[in-house]
Amino acid sequence: MLHHATPQAAGRWCAEQRAAGRGIGFVPTMGALHAGHLSLLQRAKRENDLCCASLFVNPLQFDDAEDYANYPRDTQKDLRMFAAASCDMVFSGALGDFFPGAGGVADIPVKNAGPFGRGLEEKFRPGHLDGVRTIVEKLFAAVGPCRAYFGEKDFQQSLVVTDIAQQSDGISVVVCPTVREEDGLACSSRNVLLSPNERKKAAAIHRALLRAKTLWDENIRDAAHLRRAMGEALAAAGVAVEYADLRDPLAWSGRPPAGEMQRAQALVAARVGRVRLIDNLRLDG
Ligand code: PAF
Repeated sequence: MLHHATPQAAGRWCAEQRAAGRGIGFVPTMGALHAGHLSLLQRAKRENDLCCASLFVNPLQFDDAEDYANYPRDTQKDLRMFAAASCDMVFSGALGDFFPGAGGVADIPVKNAGPFGRGLEEKFRPGHLDGVRTIVEKLFAAVGPCRAYFGEKDFQQSLVVTDIAQQSDGISVVVCPTVREEDGLACSSRNVLLSPNERKKAAAIHRALLRAKTLWDENIRDAAHLRRAMGEALAAAGVAVEYADLRDPLAWSGRPPAGEMQRAQALVAARVGRVRLIDNLRLDG
């Protein structure tokens, strides 16, 4: 596996591959790889001539300096995992490589996340999806993939990056199913930050989503009813809820729905101890 230390070197390599007619499947990551990332890498490998990945903890998408400092990092372990997943090329880089001329985060012109950035994450992590859009546009420009792979766990992010791809030339975003641990907790780089007791509590997030799904299957379609049921399930487990809400997955809106729903994605963000976790589940279909 090749490891390029800058996006410029990676970009040159990718351009050569594209010129030779090889299609690139791309998996952007912030490292701290887990089973969810591995499933994206495997799919990228299967569906493209080459599988490439990036490893960059993007400071622009953290609204909290402590969260950025505490984000799990183990580059050597990640590189071994990328290689074991038969990745062809991984690249990393420093902030100044991605944004030449910038002395620090404050110098970087951050993009607006666009219409899918409105609501939910916008309210509780202001600027997060703007930071994601800013770096993903850079990553797509460096790699020029035909397909880019993202996990459905970050549902709102998946809409933002699909929007970027639709405005770029020839990139398709492939949104892959959430990989879960045995008790249903969605795999996340942040799970390693949970204490054993918090880890047990965190399973309540998936249980709350399943509660909404059960109600939906019993023909409960009222948004307020479904929202309340998720909130109660989370509160009973002692999990601090940021949001437990719903959206029409095919018609994103910044505002919470009211009344009967035709289609619904249930979305939760909660803090277990100091760790912020998100998850979601499609209720219809
Ligand atoms: O999902 C992530 O790991 C990050 O948000 C991404 C897409 C790599 C951008 O930094």
